[in-house]
Amino acid sequence: MDFKGAHILHVNQFTREDLEKIMEVSKKMLPIAKGEETSDLLKDKILAALFFEPSTRTRLSFESAMIRLGGRVINTTEVKFSSLIKGESLEDTAKVISSYCDVIAVRHPELGSAATMAGASDVPVLNGGDGPGQHPTQALLDLFTIYQEKGKVDGLHVAMAGDLKYGRTVHSLAMLLGNFDVTFTFIAPEGIRMPGKIVDHLRDKGFTVNITDDLAEGMKDADIIYDTRIQKERFQDLELFEKIKSVYVIDKKLLSKCKEDIIVMHPLPRVNEITTDVDDTKHAAYFRQAFYGIPVRMALLAMVLGKA
Ligand code: NCD
Repeated sequence: MDFKGAHILHVNQFTREDLEKIMEVSKKMLPIAKGEETSDLLKDKILAALFFEPSTRTRLSFESAMIRLGGRVINTTEVKFSSLIKGESLEDTAKVISSYCDVIAVRHPELGSAATMAGASDVPVLNGGDGPGQHPTQALLDLFTIYQEKGKVDGLHVAMAGDLKYGRTVHSLAMLLGNFDVTFTFIAPEGIRMPGKIVDHLRDKGFTVNITDDLAEGMKDADIIYDTRIQKERFQDLELFEKIKSVYVIDKKLLSKCKEDIIVMHPLPRVNEITTDVDDTKHAAYFRQAFYGIPVRMALLAMVLGKA
């Protein structure tokens, strides 16, 4: 794809070649992301960071990425502080804001909201999470993490656990990994399993997809366990949430029964699904993963602004 001027909305828009290009540019960004080198690649460019849902990593890493490349940031963080609360449409909001900046990053609770805004925006829109839908920039930093940690993607067995129904990060990552040669295991209790649409899509493409509700069994042969938070805010049935909120906990003991070099990934925030005794083991990749949001978002900003 031609990245210059492109919106980043859904992982399905990328070919394997596109993904390799993003990984290559992200890798080049590492020294700048770490602050070891400086850059003015995006000098005079403005990012509008519109976060209408809670966010720590996605918003701050977008902002830090822009600033590391010499650009500037304007932002609004809550619907109540923007004219959306007065009833303004997403289209009008996007149209106007796109005349104030060069690129927009948006998170919004509604499925499809980023695409709606992209349709009205005169500048690239990067989807930072549209409700239970997609989170493409997270999937890209997850992919970058896998490359950094494992040196490859093809041939790996990737297990995903937790809230596979409402977790947009696992929806995006599972589909993105559909460009590689991996084995999937989806681990979730009844009520929060991976949507059938995604499972069917992967099986139709010829992937092996194992489905289980047994965490230990599902992790046993995995090279990667990608764990997720139960997305309380998206449950209509809070009784169901209470019932399943603590059924899966990854701890040191459980990891000792897995492959010796298994890595644990998590988009964060974690609540209680990974115990802190895992943090100082060689398995824990989640804090490095959170850092990789910076080089990957730097790459995406530079690419859509035609500077990479
Ligand atoms: C996730 C999200 O917002 O989808 N966090 C993130 O972006 N790193 C995961 C979550 O909220 O559980």
